[in-house]
Amino acid sequence: MPEAASYVDHLRKVPIFSKLAAKELEHIARSVKERVYESGTVIIKEGDPGLGFFLITEGRVDVSHRDHRIRDMGPGEFFGEMALMEEAPRSATVTAKERTRCLQLVRWDFRALLKENPDLAVRMLEVVVQRLREHPAAHAEP
Ligand code: CMP
Repeated sequence: MPEAASYVDHLRKVPIFSKLAAKELEHIARSVKERVYESGTVIIKEGDPGLGFFLITEGRVDVSHRDHRIRDMGPGEFFGEMALMEEAPRSATVTAKERTRCLQLVRWDFRALLKENPDLAVRMLEVVVQRLREHPAAHAEP
C-alpha cells in the first residue's frame, strides 16, 4: 500500500510520535485516513460529539472558542484529542486557514493507540496540559 509508506514518513515527523517503533508507526499508518480540507472549512465544531483525532501534514488551521481565536497550528501538530480522551463534546472550533491535509484516526483506534503506548499517552497529556495552561479561559465553565 504506497500511501501507508508515505503516512509513516509523516507520522515520524510528528514530535509526539517520534519515539514510536517502526512497527507501531506502520500499524498507525494502516489505520489512518487522509483528509483534505479547503480553506475556510470547519473541520471540528465546538459542542459536537468527538469522532476523530487529526494530525496536520500540510497547511494551517485556526482554533477558536466562542468566536475568540485561541491559536493556529501547522504541520506536525495535532487536534481533536480532548473530546476523545474525555468522551466529552468538542471544546473548540477548528477551521482550515488554507488548504489543509490531515491524517485522521477514529475514536476507537486513537484510544487503543494510547492504551498500547503509555509513553505516547504521557507525552500527549503533557501537550494537553500545556494547551490548557496557555488558554485556561477557553475551558472554564460558562
Ligand atoms: P477537541 O476538544 O476534541 O476539539 C477541539 C480541539 O481544539 C481540542 O480537542 C484541541 O485539539 C484543540 N484545543 C482546544 N483548546 C485548545 C487550547 N486552549 N489550545 C490549543 N488547542 C486547543
